[in-house]
Amino acid sequence: MTAAGEPAADRPDECSSGAPDPEPMRWWDIEQVAELELVLFPTDSPWTPAMFWSELAAGHHYVVIRDAAGRVDGYAGLSRSGDDAEVQTIGVRPGRQGQGLGRALLQNLIGAAGNRRILLDVRTDNAAALALYRSEGFACIGVRRRYYQPSGADAFTMSRGAGCSGKVATERSGTASTAGTIGTTETKENR
Ligand SMILES: CC(C)(COP(=O)(O)OP(=O)(O)OC[C@H]1O[C@@H](n2cnc3c(N)ncnc32)[C@H](O)[C@@H]1OP(=O)(O)O)[C@@H](O)C(=O)NCCC(=O)NCCS
Repeated sequence: MTAAGEPAADRPDECSSGAPDPEPMRWWDIEQVAELELVLFPTDSPWTPAMFWSELAAGHHYVVIRDAAGRVDGYAGLSRSGDDAEVQTIGVRPGRQGQGLGRALLQNLIGAAGNRRILLDVRTDNAAALALYRSEGFACIGVRRRYYQPSGADAFTMSRGAGCSGKVATERSGTASTAGTIGTTETKENR
């Protein structure tokens, strides 16, 4: 494999939104991604390099956004099984947040899901992620009490139905009170 010295033609292009295009995550990205996990999810069992190795080995869809120097500024992952897909994780380097990278990553996952329903879990207090997901057509379908450990934070489970392309403009955070409760048995939290 050619980890270093990628030709300029292989570097991310600038798309119309200004966010570079996501590219497939490679094994040489894992160290940087795991370091970002420690920064982004310090209280919620950040994923280890071994977990990302396992995800790539399983053939799941993982992408990164790199800057021109190859530094990973954002990453995201999706698993697909049958009619369902699941967002496994998504994160953007703190200094690069609010610049469209998270949306570019999520839209890449949505494209990779095809016609499948997409599920994800998100902390109920994660306002930025909730706003992003809602704006891309996800809606809350349940609550997982104390889903994240060791913080004990609750999670919303959200779903984006097959063929759903419209934005959910009217949904508010108060949706939590109407969502059902889902079990808390998972050992590896999805983000
Ligand atoms: C959630 C996260 C991935 C969003 O990435 P980002 O690059 O900052 O988001 P974008 O710049 O693409 O913004 C997309 C939308 O997210 C929402 N958003 C982003 N930052 C926000 C903030 N601080 N407050 C409220 N909404 C916010 C907005 O709806 C925004 O759309 P807009 O720009 O049209 O208003 C990023 O904040 C992050 O990495 N957070 C820490 C890790 C995390 O919580 N991951 C999600 C786990 S479920």
